[in-house]
Amino acid sequence: MSSSFLAIFLAMAMALSSCAAARFDEQFEASWALDHIIHDGELVKLKLDNFSGAGFASKNKYLYGKATAEMKLVEGDSAGTVTAFYMSSEGPKHNEFDFEFLGNTSGEPYLVQTNIYIDGVGNREQRMDLWFDPTADFHSYSILWNQRQVVFLVDETPVRVYENREKEGVAFPGDQPMGVYSSLWNADDWATQGGRVKTDWSHAPFVTTYGDLRVDGCRVGGEAAAALESEVRRCSASESGEEGRYWWKDPVMQELSVHQSHQLMWVRAKHLVYDYCADSSRFPTKPAECGR
Ligand SMILES: *[C@@H]1O[C@H](CO)[C@@H](O)[C@H](O)[C@H]1NC(C)=O
Ligand SMILES: *[C@@H]1O[C@H](CO)[C@@H](O)[C@H](O)[C@H]1NC(C)=O
Repeated sequence: MSSSFLAIFLAMAMALSSCAAARFDEQFEASWALDHIIHDGELVKLKLDNFSGAGFASKNKYLYGKATAEMKLVEGDSAGTVTAFYMSSEGPKHNEFDFEFLGNTSGEPYLVQTNIYIDGVGNREQRMDLWFDPTADFHSYSILWNQRQVVFLVDETPVRVYENREKEGVAFPGDQPMGVYSSLWNADDWATQGGRVKTDWSHAPFVTTYGDLRVDGCRVGGEAAAALESEVRRCSASESGEEGRYWWKDPVMQELSVHQSHQLMWVRAKHLVYDYCADSSRFPTKPAECGR
């Protein structure tokens, strides 16, 4: 296949799947505090007050794919609040990919923390600020996951990549089906300026608003172990499937393009404020996945 044909094909596949973008209730359900989840036309809102935060979860689990949330974060004084958008598997050896948006006092910038858990172990935090005000408008935040890489994207700009280097003995979050989650809660013991700024409840309720929510992934159902096994085999087969159905595995999705690599370099140079890989007081020995 020529690369331009492939590009057209991919664009078509993506257009098709976004037409099929299911409405919130088809793909998601409240996971706690039902009365703090508000449906407002096409939008969904999570509300945090001094009584409760709220969260929702995908009804299905997925093995590889891409999850995207269009979000407008808590505006004004959001200090102490955290909005999270993440994928996670279950159990003590779970894998997890996190976006955590740490609120701030009015006019001060949000920080975006990302983290990756593999086999139940996290401690892979990075923090960045953004090149726009995430409270003024909707922006898209995505997690792309295939067997070659995990990519965190903001408005389709890659902000973090975790490559598969299993061949070199570096752990990679592989074949565990994951759910997609989002929540808003009070974390004023640590979130804002290291926990020094507390949530000001006189400014409640705090609200995060969701536009489109999309999960394109290989769905894993089946309660019976045998069924689950065969679905895991199907989803983790290396090909992108009939008619490119599993487009997140296509060759162009397996590594960043040159353009994307440049974008990532720009983000790291201009917006990264913390990287565990560079924190030698926490990690006197550099974690295996950090640099070659
Ligand atoms: C929560 O906030 C409301 C409105 O400000 C206030 O009336 C109420 O006493 C607060 N409740 C608690 C448990 O702090
Ligand atoms: C909040 O604003 C302060 C001052 O600009 C900044 O140092 C901090 O990184 C911001 N974010 C958080 C989550 O504290």
